[in-house]
Amino acid sequence: MHKLESRTVVPTKGLHGEIVVPGDKSISHRAIMFASLAQGKSRIRGLLRGEDCLSTLQAFRSLGIEAIEPADDELIIQGRGLAGLQEPTDIIDCGNSGTTMRLMCGILAAQPFFSILTGDEYLRKRPMGRVINPLSAMGAKILGRDDNSKAPLAIDGGGLKSAEYYSPIASAQVKSAVLLAGMQGDGTTTVYEPHLSRDHSERMLRYFGADLESFPGGARVNGRVELTGQEVVVPGDISSAAFFLVAGLIVPDSVLLLRNVGINPTRSGVIDILQQMGGSIELLNQRELSGEPVADLLIKSSHLCGIEIGGEMIPRAIDELPVVSVAAAFAEGVTTIRDAKELRVKETDRIAAMCECLGTLGAEIEPLNDGMRIVGGKRLTGGQVSSFGDHRIAMSLAVATLGAAAEVKILDTACTETSFPGFWELLIQVAKG
Ligand code: S3P
Repeated sequence: MHKLESRTVVPTKGLHGEIVVPGDKSISHRAIMFASLAQGKSRIRGLLRGEDCLSTLQAFRSLGIEAIEPADDELIIQGRGLAGLQEPTDIIDCGNSGTTMRLMCGILAAQPFFSILTGDEYLRKRPMGRVINPLSAMGAKILGRDDNSKAPLAIDGGGLKSAEYYSPIASAQVKSAVLLAGMQGDGTTTVYEPHLSRDHSERMLRYFGADLESFPGGARVNGRVELTGQEVVVPGDISSAAFFLVAGLIVPDSVLLLRNVGINPTRSGVIDILQQMGGSIELLNQRELSGEPVADLLIKSSHLCGIEIGGEMIPRAIDELPVVSVAAAFAEGVTTIRDAKELRVKETDRIAAMCECLGTLGAEIEPLNDGMRIVGGKRLTGGQVSSFGDHRIAMSLAVATLGAAAEVKILDTACTETSFPGFWELLIQVAKG
């Protein structure tokens, strides 16, 4: 449980400077998981040391994995192979992390021992049927609260068969859970999804030597192929960069350079959206790090215009939609976000949270069943709002305040440690820059 810290953010006149955002959360989770399942040593640099990824690291330590941190920016994991994990002697606490819980379900469902996963008050409310159902169809024995749909989850692992699964939602967590289960058993497992969700698991599993193939509409893995330890360099998280992208665009007279940001096309929807709105974002020095594309992003304040956002764009920008709604409040005209019902089952209901908070600050914003409609251009006022314990809501509200007319008190802000340690300090640094 976080302390209920609060922060008062003041509007600012221009953001300047060069910043490096912390490592990508999705890639960091996977680096810890796949290094643990691999044979031999892996060295990971650039890992996000946010609370979510520390939950994953702690989970693997409790499964018998040795991990040492010889330097500030280095984690060495001694992998034990696909069959090397040990039965944990206590329940595994996934904290606030949906990625930890859902991917661990896929891993543990195939391990020949008993384990229990739980999480904080937010995670225990989130839907787990989406991974329990396909894994059960593969023969997994998973029991959960609320008719097998919520954590705590008890897993009696082992004896899975391969599967062909058509996921009704574009979810990388569901796709990854099924692939991770399939990878540990006999035969070939295939997952199809309605739109392409982030493909970090596919890229990194291949990088570790898995026999895995991506194709339009899904991915397929052959079971019982051992992974081999690797050197992994984690790029900066585009989801964290997004707060500074939007801040740099909406605050007049700003120029920001964000170094070393992951621009994987399954994640870079926020760049496309903001560019379509008229944002000046240049991609410089494009290169590749451990199988992931990376660039430096140069941002200059811009006149933004409202657009329509939906369809395949949604999974490519799902975690950035709260801060996109902030950009929309500062844009000229109407922005509509549709097909984004998934926002309602994130760390909090992000549609309700952003509509309530931006509405309190004077924005014209209306919730839709599967998104929101924002009429931009109303000057935001000061006031008091709450993050609802959700890290991305807290940071989106901080960005909104930078361009508002008066200071805003944001309640419940310690949650930013989930994905972005050092966020508030970085914000102060660029506001002074
Ligand atoms: C993630 C996938 C997404 C995303 C989450 C991280 C991942 O969730 O919202 O923050 O690392 O696989 P869904 O799979 O539920 O869409």
